[in-house]
Amino acid sequence: MKHFITLADLPDFHQTLDLAMELKNQPTKWDAMGKGKTLGLLFFNPSLRTRLSTQKAAQNLGLPTMVMNFSQESWALEFEDGTKMSGLRSEHVKEAAAVVSQYCDMVAIRAFASLSDKEKDEAEIVLRSFAKYASVPIINMESATAHPLQALADAITIKEFQPAHKPKVVLSWAPHPKALPHAVGNSFTKMMKHMDADFIIAHPEGYALNPKITEGITCTTDQEKAMEGADFVYTKNWCSYEQYGQILRTDDEWMITPEKMQRTNDGKFMHCLPIRRNIVAADGVLDSPNALVIQQSQNRIFSAQSVLKQLLENG
Ligand code: CP
Repeated sequence: MKHFITLADLPDFHQTLDLAMELKNQPTKWDAMGKGKTLGLLFFNPSLRTRLSTQKAAQNLGLPTMVMNFSQESWALEFEDGTKMSGLRSEHVKEAAAVVSQYCDMVAIRAFASLSDKEKDEAEIVLRSFAKYASVPIINMESATAHPLQALADAITIKEFQPAHKPKVVLSWAPHPKALPHAVGNSFTKMMKHMDADFIIAHPEGYALNPKITEGITCTTDQEKAMEGADFVYTKNWCSYEQYGQILRTDDEWMITPEKMQRTNDGKFMHCLPIRRNIVAADGVLDSPNALVIQQSQNRIFSAQSVLKQLLENG
């Protein structure tokens, strides 16, 4: 694995999952592995879980970290080639990525979608530019179109709470007042293609995810029917993909409620967090013992640790 930008970069998804479970049992077993190395964490957007869980994962491997809120603390970066840099952007990614590579042995980056330019977002300009100009591995801590560390943590959580039978897993869109990216929904969908489960995506009209990503997956606009007999209900908002970046509705009809959860097979509720209570899901859902959101957050440590360990082993 040269970089970890999407789940497809993993040499083996199931071996990574097994490694993450092993690390959860013995978090500090390889606590000398990172000695003499440094992990850089660059944030172009805010974070709670990703920042702290990745630092904790590095700490478990004896790997020191350096963190920078790039959008507030560093020079504004230029990503276009051949530009006359007469505007507000003071440093080109060519130099920035090469310089960061002098201080860090791996660089993890968070850079969300603009949601204004689909083509640019899908080109993953920030992550791909760093991967191009850095001389060290790049790790995705949520990019414009993918959040693979979250998806890996979600896979660990599903495995931990898996029933004896093949589970039914529903990814349900839910409302939100702000336009949110597709990264979590995309990576969850890609991750579920590796799992032995009946997987269905429920979303209102106009909210289909990228059809290239949902190819081969059952999608429906009937949320309540989708939730019938579900073992896991994973909820997430995303803006319209077709009418890129647009919010088409903000009503409560798709909010996850205790009444809707009653249709499930004593189903577990999942969400990557942060979550807006009584908008995305009702208090009664989040405060129920069937909510796994805190367990998902804990598993972010071991998804990150399994990726960092494999990159460290690559040298
Ligand atoms: N789930 C997740 O990535 O959380 P943060 O945005 O707080 O890092």
